[in-house]
Amino acid sequence: MKILAFETSCDDTAVAVIEDGHIVKSNVRLTQTEHNDYGGVVPEIAARLHAENWQPTLRQALSDAHCEIQDIDLIACTKGPGLQTSLLTGTTVASFFSLIHQKTLIPVHHIYGHICANFLERSPANIVFPSLVLTVSGGHTQMHLWQSPTDIKILGSTLDDAAGEAFDKVAKMLGLGYPGGPIVSKRAEKGDRKAVDLPKIYLAKDSLDFSFSGLKASVYRYLAKTPKPFTDSLINDLCASFEFTVGKIFLQKVKRVIDRYPDIQQVHFVGGVSANRYLNQILSDFCISQNRTFFTPKNKAYSTDNAAMIGAAAYQMWLKDPKIASVQHLDANARYTLQEAFSGFSNKPV
Ligand code: KG4
Ligand code: ZN
Repeated sequence: MKILAFETSCDDTAVAVIEDGHIVKSNVRLTQTEHNDYGGVVPEIAARLHAENWQPTLRQALSDAHCEIQDIDLIACTKGPGLQTSLLTGTTVASFFSLIHQKTLIPVHHIYGHICANFLERSPANIVFPSLVLTVSGGHTQMHLWQSPTDIKILGSTLDDAAGEAFDKVAKMLGLGYPGGPIVSKRAEKGDRKAVDLPKIYLAKDSLDFSFSGLKASVYRYLAKTPKPFTDSLINDLCASFEFTVGKIFLQKVKRVIDRYPDIQQVHFVGGVSANRYLNQILSDFCISQNRTFFTPKNKAYSTDNAAMIGAAAYQMWLKDPKIASVQHLDANARYTLQEAFSGFSNKPV
């Protein structure tokens, strides 16, 4: 079963060919560096570049997979959430190929795609349920109870900024560029994690939600009273202390979930921020201490936005209910919810 998948929810134009839900035949991504000077994604620029980039990306993905569009069984695409004007390229192109080549179409929720990134290059039998998923990206920070491949319950979400967004904003305050996560993480390796005492906001004693705006504001206040220009060692120490604080918050929240749901066997860390080496290390060490197995995407390219994860997610949806793939046209939905994404199951007409 070969799936051709498109992902254009934000600033990356991505196309992949996935076989049987976990074999990556190709995974091509054109990253838009044009946003770097602005410290964030400019929707208008993203939309224009998606329109320019989808053709070369598709051509490369088919060529890397050594196949033609005729060899494809299903087409999948991110329906949302994301930037409406970015989503439109993927949904329009996927709908067009579906119509012209008479292929059925699977709409995929972006966060569900991130979760399914952990199927890639793994035997599906390695993943057992129930599992905990910590999904951390530029737009989301959530914990999910993964009860079966297509049954996902949200346990907690950020009440304000996403953790990836906080990484990006700290990098911006320090004048380090965009996206901030990889740069902050690199600087943190050379810094002292205990140098700056930043607030660890755990919210109420039993809360599974997150809040990162206070942490971001503390970094701002600390920098406001620091003489300029910032020294390299101050930047490194602040990045290290910030990463340390985010890590402490994640560990505390994961612990709360495991204490509350002792049946959980595995902890999955996915989304762009799961490309972070330090956070992976401390979460992995914690899971070992708790006798839980820790999973993160096999390749950094499957942590940040990519189309392979969308193909993996579409395959799980098709396994659960082949009728899910009877959509003729895919509408972009910037505010698509996980609940809506799974509402097409159970023999309801799609
Ligand atoms: O999943 P993703 O590619 O896009 C969204 O769905 O938002 O996540 C992008 C986010 C950005 O905020 C970026 O700074 C962060 O992931 N990120 C990282 C690292 N690599 C990317 N954060 C921390 N450490 C990294 N190594
Ligand atoms: Zn994402």
